Amino acid sequence: MGLVTLTEVLQRAEAGGYAVGAFNCHNLEFIQAIISAAEAEKAPVIIQASQGALQYAGLGYITSMVKAAAEAAAVPVVLHLDHGTDFQQVIRCLRQGFTSVMFDGSRLPLSENIEITRKIVDIAHAAGVSVEGELGRIAGTEDHIQVAASESFYTDPGEAQRFVAETGIDALAVAVGTAHGVYRGEPHLDFKRLQKIRELVSLPLVLHGSSGVPDEAIRKAISLGVRKINIDTDIRLAFVGKLREELASRPHEIDPRKLLAPAREAAREVIRHKMRVFGCSGRA
Ligand code: G3H
Ligand code: ZN
Repeated sequence: MGLVTLTEVLQRAEAGGYAVGAFNCHNLEFIQAIISAAEAEKAPVIIQASQGALQYAGLGYITSMVKAAAEAAAVPVVLHLDHGTDFQQVIRCLRQGFTSVMFDGSRLPLSENIEITRKIVDIAHAAGVSVEGELGRIAGTEDHIQVAASESFYTDPGEAQRFVAETGIDALAVAVGTAHGVYRGEPHLDFKRLQKIRELVSLPLVLHGSSGVPDEAIRKAISLGVRKINIDTDIRLAFVGKLREELASRPHEIDPRKLLAPAREAAREVIRHKMRVFGCSGRA
């Protein structure tokens, strides 16, 4: 099928009232787990790579692997840059053939966030690529981005309206109570704020830090306009947990394939479950 843009899959999600999963990849096995889950669920899918993942695996490797996977897949696949904080990195991804990029200017003053995001939107749209922007600061750790709870703040609905109008982005990441990484207690989402944002902003909303958020809260967020849901930690936990088990139970095994395949399978099952909760199963 080949790669499609974020806008394409999110427009369909908007019409159908569901959300599309955006799953972080770090290596070949994660890409395979994501694609095979999407095919099994007949779901559109967003494969995203953070700057840390690109540094680890190499931009060329990630792009080539996802392109090869997308061409052979029977479902629409988006290749998305997650939390791009560097203008030049965003441009390198565009040149490689990413079909969507996120510029995360959430650490910047609003006017600067607007200015750089607008510039990226101009360039990306000229190349037929979608752009996700972020407003508010999501707590927790996502690769190299660390935000202490004291530094985090929720998205202001009025600012969101201005941000969307002045940047021309295609999707907006909001901070409404989720956090990156493993939660200490149960997360509480500010649904009233989400509803207010939705009333003022008519484009697809993105929920980051969605690992560990109860399925019911996810469904409610979808009913309030969330159309892209980011999952990293829950896949890591499944993959690494299974890998640890395999290593412990087979200490003499030296074939990496025999150790990695069960971990890949565990990751795939978590992704399939998320797709069903998001309502994107059967929508490809
Ligand atoms: O951008 C990636 C996500 O927001 C992942 O968050 O690791 O809490 O699932 P998570
Ligand atoms: Zn995130």
